[in-house]
Amino acid sequence: MRYNDFVKNLKDKIYSLMIQNRRTHGQFQYTVPSPDSYPFQWLWDSCFHAIIYSYFDIEAGKRELTALVSKQFDDGMIPHMIYWEKGEPADFPKIQWGKEDTSTITQPPMLAYAVWRIYLEDADKMFLESIYPHLKKFYLYLINKRDPRQHHLIGIINPDESGEDNSPRFDICLSLDPLHSMDENFQKRLDLVSQNKNCNFEIKTCMRNFFWIKDVPFNSIMVENLDCMVEIAKVLGQTEDENFFTENAKLISDAMRRWMLEDGIFWSVYGLDYKKIKVKSWAAFAPLFARICTKKEAEKLVNEYLLNDGFNTNYLVPTVDKLEPSFDPQGFWRGPIWIAINWFIYKGLKNYGFDEEAKKILDSSLALLEKSGFREQFNPTTGEGMGAKDFTWGGLVLDMT
Ligand code: GLC
Repeated sequence: MRYNDFVKNLKDKIYSLMIQNRRTHGQFQYTVPSPDSYPFQWLWDSCFHAIIYSYFDIEAGKRELTALVSKQFDDGMIPHMIYWEKGEPADFPKIQWGKEDTSTITQPPMLAYAVWRIYLEDADKMFLESIYPHLKKFYLYLINKRDPRQHHLIGIINPDESGEDNSPRFDICLSLDPLHSMDENFQKRLDLVSQNKNCNFEIKTCMRNFFWIKDVPFNSIMVENLDCMVEIAKVLGQTEDENFFTENAKLISDAMRRWMLEDGIFWSVYGLDYKKIKVKSWAAFAPLFARICTKKEAEKLVNEYLLNDGFNTNYLVPTVDKLEPSFDPQGFWRGPIWIAINWFIYKGLKNYGFDEEAKKILDSSLALLEKSGFREQFNPTTGEGMGAKDFTWGGLVLDMT
């Protein structure tokens, strides 16, 4: 009964959380992921916010994305953090990420997906037209600057660009053992920022020397977003762009199959010779989100991997397989459940008709919110909420439909 009441009131709870976390700065409006822990604007968070806003306040979604692209760099990159307000929470020294007003790295390119979702609600072509040049510049930056050898995989220069800051997928490139402290991990990621800054973020001579991973989720998200760019270009009558993005989505998904796939599983790769990083994490399910797997591959992934021991915890879905030596149910991105990741997996399962499995993930997400509230992450064994409070990502359950 209590649970049913919770689900009934959930929409209202999500709306008030979004409004509570909403901020304005001059003409700009954005939403902080969590007032205490994350009092700035973040790239993929804003895309999640736009998806959530599409359920009850489309204009807020548009404003959120407009604020995000207003800080685009000249080369097209969109920074993963924007510090709108002056003043510095003591535990968040902003300059650590490279600049005074923004960071100098990006995050998974969910932008076209978010824009497209907003457009589908009210067919506002003017909004599409106004944001399109930013989108185009961003995806061109990723295609041209993050793939200098033209092998059609997009490289990331810092674990934080994946959105999964301390995921064990990145340990090997940071020369870290499966067990190490959060501080040690964080320091390595900040060192990467300084190294890249010192050589002006030059791709060929610098960026790829320190940390250069072709990550499965980042590239899957890229493919799905290029598909959205195709739809957007179609609406705007940009036929050349439509063809260009169609071609690039295919080039990336083909390259993923060529370099990342082994025995039905896609692995992130590193180095000039694309060595596979065989750490079992949710990343294996990310290609489902972009429909990169065949039906047969998807079946194998779900039956032998998603439903197997390693991911079958009390609550779903742990970000890292519990049989990995690096698994830590309280280790930030080293095991805990994050609702946005559940959302990606949910969408991926639905793409292939795994409705029952998808529903299990939705039920688990709802159970976590009911038990522990809008927390940042959740312990997959106990369901205990951890990290930031009043965290917006829980709102994505609205979109698990
Ligand atoms: C943490 C997450 C990252 C997110 C940010 C703001 O750093 O790892 O993915 O964007 O918080 O919510």
